[in-house]
Amino acid sequence: MHPKREREREKMDGVSNLPDEVLCQILSFLTTKEVALTSILAKRWRNLLAFVPSLTINDSEFLHPEEGKQDRQEIIQSFTDFVDSVLKLQGNSSPLNKLSLKCVTVADKYRLDGWISNALGRGVSDLALKIIIDDKVDNYQLSPKCFECCSTLVRLKIARGIDISLVGGGGGVSLPLLKTLVLDSVWVRSKQFEALLHALPSLEELLLSNVTWRDGEVTVSSASLKTLTIKSSDWLSTLSFDTPSLLRFKYSGSIVTNFKVVVDMGDLVDAQIFFDESHNSIMQLREPDDELFLYQKAIEYTSVWNLFHGIRNVQNLYLFPTTLELLFTCSKSFYRKLPGFKNLKSLAVKSDKDCGWQAMPLLLRKCPRLETLVLEGLMHDVTSMCGDFCDCIPRERKGCSLGCCRVKLMKIYGFRGTVKEMSMIKHFLYYLPPCLEEMRVYVEENNSPTTELENREVYKSVLEMFQLCSKRSRCNVKLMGLKSKTIS
Ligand SMILES: *[C@@H]1O[C@H](CO)[C@@H](O)[C@H](O)[C@H]1NC(C)=O
Ligand SMILES: *[C@@H]1O[C@H](CO)[C@@H](O)[C@H](O)[C@H]1NC(C)=O
Repeated sequence: MHPKREREREKMDGVSNLPDEVLCQILSFLTTKEVALTSILAKRWRNLLAFVPSLTINDSEFLHPEEGKQDRQEIIQSFTDFVDSVLKLQGNSSPLNKLSLKCVTVADKYRLDGWISNALGRGVSDLALKIIIDDKVDNYQLSPKCFECCSTLVRLKIARGIDISLVGGGGGVSLPLLKTLVLDSVWVRSKQFEALLHALPSLEELLLSNVTWRDGEVTVSSASLKTLTIKSSDWLSTLSFDTPSLLRFKYSGSIVTNFKVVVDMGDLVDAQIFFDESHNSIMQLREPDDELFLYQKAIEYTSVWNLFHGIRNVQNLYLFPTTLELLFTCSKSFYRKLPGFKNLKSLAVKSDKDCGWQAMPLLLRKCPRLETLVLEGLMHDVTSMCGDFCDCIPRERKGCSLGCCRVKLMKIYGFRGTVKEMSMIKHFLYYLPPCLEEMRVYVEENNSPTTELENREVYKSVLEMFQLCSKRSRCNVKLMGLKSKTIS
C-alpha cells in the first residue's frame, strides 16, 4: 500500500472506535466528495455516508473549470451521477440538516430541482445555493414548488446565477421558520423581494450583498428583522426602511439618492456606515468650482441626512472616513443641523490620510452620553476645518469640543510611535475632561514597514511618556498589544 494511504488508514483506525453518530458528525464537516473518498478506504465508513446529515456539494472540486475540463461532457455526467447516487444512498426519508450546493456547470434544470426538492423534503434547515447554468443566456429559476410551506428551513443563502422571481412572487411560498436570508450577487425585482419578505414572519437576519435591483425603488419591510446588512447595491434610487425591531445595521455602498426611514429605528444598538465616494468627489465637495456639481450633490446628500436622522437613537456607531467627510459637508453646505445622538455610548471612527476630521467637533457636541471614543488611526488629512479636535493647526479655541464630552475610555489603534502621534495623544489628554479614566493605545498590528516602536530607545521613551501622562492627567494611559519579541 502507498505509504500515505497507510498513514491515513492508521489515523482512521484511531477514530474507528467512535460511535456511528459521532463519526457522522465528524463527516459533516467534510465536503461530500471527501466523505466519498474516505468511504473508499473503509467499509464501515461507506455505510455511514448514508447517514451524514450535512452535504457540501461543489462541482468545481470535480471539474476543475480552471483547467478547462468543464467542457468534457463525461466529467459533468460523472458529477451528476455522483450526486444522484449519494442522494439515492441516503434515501428520501433520512433527516438532512444542511445542503450546500454549488454548481457552475450542470445545466440539467430538472436534476437540480430534484436535488433541492429532495433536501427540502428531508427537512433541511440550512440551504445554500449557487447555481450558474449559463451566465450569458439565463439564470436558474428557483421553483416556487420547492418552497411551498417549507416549515423546516431556518437559513437560506441564494447566490449568483439564481433567479428568485418565481419564489419572490409570493404565491404559495411560506417559510414560517426562516431566520436568515442571504442574497448575494443576484438580480431582484423590488416587488418580488417585498412579497418574499412578507412570507418570512420569523426573519431576523438579512444580508443583501451586491444585489442588482431591476427597478430602482425598494422597501425593506419586516417587523421581526434584527440584523440588516447591505453591501454595494446596484441601480437603487430609493431605499426605504420599515424595520421597527432592528438592532444592528450595516450599510456600505454608494449614496442612494433617496434614503427613507419609514419608522424610527428606535432600539438600534449597532450601526456602521460606509459611503463609497471617490477621493475626487470629496475634494470637489470641499472646494466646489462647479455650481451644478454642488447642486446635484446637494440633492443626493439630503438623503444622507435622512439616514442619520433615522439611526439617531443608536448606541454604538462606527463611521468610515468618507462618511465623516460627508457628514461635515452636509452640515456646511445646507445649513442643516446634525441630529442629536442622545443614546450614543460608543463612537468609533476609522481614519484615512485622505479624509479629514472636520465632523468630529460637531459630532462630539451632539453626543451627551458618549463613554467610549475609538480612533482607528490618528493620521488624517489636515484641513483648516478640522476644528479644535486635533492639534494639527494652532488655533484659538483649541480642544474646545473635547472639553465638553464625557468620555471615560479612549482607544487609539494603529499607533506607530511617531512624534506626531505622541503630540496628538498629549493633546487629547490635555483637553479631555478629568472623567477620562483610561486611554488604551494599540500598536499597529501590521508591522510593515517596521514601526518606530521596534527601536528599543523609542519604545522606552514612549513608555516613559505614557507614565508621565498617567501621573499628570490621572488617566491610566496604556500601551497595548506590542509583543516583546518584536523589540530589538
Ligand atoms: C468550490 O471548490 C472550488 C475549488 O476547490 C473552491 O475554489 C471554491 O471556493 C469552492 N466553493 C465553495 C462555495 O465551497
Ligand atoms: C456582483 O454581481 C454580478 C452579477 O450580478 C457579478 O457579475 C459580479 O461578479 C459580482 N461582484 C462581486 C464583487 O461579487
